[in-house]
Amino acid sequence: MPSEPVPLAPRALMTWYLEAGVDETIGDAPVDRYAAAARAFAPLEASARPAPAQPAPVMTDRPQASLTPGPLMPEANKALQPAALAGNGKKDGLPPAGDEAVQSAYTLAEAAQSVAALRAALETFDGCALQKTATNLVFTDGSPEGQVVFVGEAPGAEEDRQGVPFVGPSGKLIDRMLESIGLDRTRVLITNTIFWRPPGNRSPTTQEIAICMPFLERLIELVDPKVLVAVGGPAASALLAQPQGITKLRGRWFSYETSRMVRPIPATAMFHPAYLLRSPAQKRDVWRDMLALRRKLDEES
Ligand code: URA
Repeated sequence: MPSEPVPLAPRALMTWYLEAGVDETIGDAPVDRYAAAARAFAPLEASARPAPAQPAPVMTDRPQASLTPGPLMPEANKALQPAALAGNGKKDGLPPAGDEAVQSAYTLAEAAQSVAALRAALETFDGCALQKTATNLVFTDGSPEGQVVFVGEAPGAEEDRQGVPFVGPSGKLIDRMLESIGLDRTRVLITNTIFWRPPGNRSPTTQEIAICMPFLERLIELVDPKVLVAVGGPAASALLAQPQGITKLRGRWFSYETSRMVRPIPATAMFHPAYLLRSPAQKRDVWRDMLALRRKLDEES
């Protein structure tokens, strides 16, 4: 005889959802997916015609950016913004969208004269929709005088909880990679292309990266490291402005420069530790890249 389903206590149910990866609330009203599925599989009436395909549900009522996807260049970034994002007006009660947000990010970031001031400026900034869903601002870890700035993609769940970049499994691997060439977090600065966790760990959008880029550029200017390292493909696209993917970019050196920097900085890219955790065979390439980083640092000293 089939047993009756045992009702879960609310707390146990929430824990079960969390463990299954459901860690965001994204709507005010519950959606009965069983009813929707039942409707979808119900036999069609003879006269019924299939409804035209609906666009994918949009999870926000903010106007969407019209930026063409593609690599962002540090300086070209500025040129990209106002025209490329034209048409995104501010809606009452919503954060400023598109060009306005980027413009306000540049104004705030450029006025900051220290990493602490830049962080304070970010705390006052309200131009990124991710702030609505994130728990904490995740800006930097390490030293503002770091010899290397590492730029990852986006904070994950653990980073969001602690407000510190790279503290989850990827962060633990980064620590071991640093240790392998005699570095640790007191000698480098670690950050991301965006400073708030995207819901459900989705990839950051081009617009979110564009909105955070003024702060990232200013951070790099203020730290003025000997070397810049993009960690993973999205960070490499955002910083190096190269059309190739990470497999072609890793192991090579580029120049990174903004108009306010006194000299260009050598910049490179390496595989993201999250990828290495899934594909340990690539660790050999990362070991080579870490040795190249060590050599570059020694040359620059
Ligand atoms: N992955 C990233 O790219 N950044 C983090 O801070 C954590 C995981």
